[in-house]
Amino acid sequence: MSVDPLLPQRRARYAGKHPRRFDEKYKEHDAARYAEEASKIVLGGKTLAGTHRSVCVAEILAILDPRPGQVVLDATLGYGGHAREILARIIPGGCLWGIDADPVEIKRTVARLTALGYGEEVFKARCMNFAGVSRLAAEAGQGFDLILADLGVSSMQLDDPARGFTFKHEGPLDLRLNPGRGQSAAALLQSLSEKDFEQILIAHADEPQAKGIAKAVFKCRQPILTTTALCAAVRRALPRPSTDAAEEENTRSVRRTFQALRIAVNDEFQVLEQFLRHLPFCLKPGGKAAILTFHSGEDNRVMQALEAGCVSGVYAAISREPIRAGAQERHDNPRSRSAVVRWAQRSL
Ligand SMILES: C[S@@+](CC[C@H](N)C(=O)[O-])C[C@H]1O[C@@H](n2cnc3c(N)ncnc32)[C@H](O)[C@@H]1O
Repeated sequence: MSVDPLLPQRRARYAGKHPRRFDEKYKEHDAARYAEEASKIVLGGKTLAGTHRSVCVAEILAILDPRPGQVVLDATLGYGGHAREILARIIPGGCLWGIDADPVEIKRTVARLTALGYGEEVFKARCMNFAGVSRLAAEAGQGFDLILADLGVSSMQLDDPARGFTFKHEGPLDLRLNPGRGQSAAALLQSLSEKDFEQILIAHADEPQAKGIAKAVFKCRQPILTTTALCAAVRRALPRPSTDAAEEENTRSVRRTFQALRIAVNDEFQVLEQFLRHLPFCLKPGGKAAILTFHSGEDNRVMQALEAGCVSGVYAAISREPIRAGAQERHDNPRSRSAVVRWAQRSL
């Protein structure tokens, strides 16, 4: 029997006061009911399970400056944090199109934004990949005044072991943004050669231990089907850590391995390049786009596309320097430390 993720589920039992597993954190999943506990967690610098803390919100709002009546595309809706801020600024008369490739989380986000009073006339959601942005611009009519893309994955996706994005908990080695499309990371691994995998680790994550990790993974006699099995195989390839710093470096290698596989499974670089090619033509004349990236593989592609657009004349102006989160945000939300925002304005 399939389980509807939006229906209340029986709460997981756990021993002790501090639940560690995602499904045991029922107070975090119901922050409205357990407001005091939830606020303690947020004040402690953590993100509530099943939520996402939007990055560089002030910077993005300053760049895009959303106004009443504008037509906006949020190409990576996620938890809807940026979308919610934009929606509040474009009414009356405006409309936000929110898209996400993830059919599981988009349902929850639509339910949340609808509950806040944003009906279909102001908020139109589509489960789709942003590679198809030009189709959406045609559906929206004259294109968009503003476009936002906040790349990568959300905390909800990362935290949920069932999605296979986290190496911290046992789960299927999946890593797909849309679990109903394409092949899982486990299936992809089985179709690769050791050399292909090494190349993926280098090209997608600059992993210095790529050769050793690929060798260790391909030495496993059993197919690697779970997050913890991959994590253990990667750790076997790394030097035994004798200090905390060495242990952290090993953890970074595990994280980079998951990142590299995620990029491969979701074809993230090709999809991003396609989005960037269509982007200027989806903006109205004078319209603005802001793109938030989290690693150099993404940022280099964005920077090159914006510069090329400036040279060709489709963009009248682009950001010359990367814009980063302020000191307070970097302190409060470690995920914001690697964030880079760039923007471009369509020529008239
Ligand atoms: C960092 S989160 C966005 C968070 C959001 N800005 C917020 O404030 O809650 C990135 C989201 O983009 C989605 N995503 C990533 N690549 C995508 C793609 N190619 N097409 C559509 N959605 C994508 C992910 O599923 C994820 O929900």
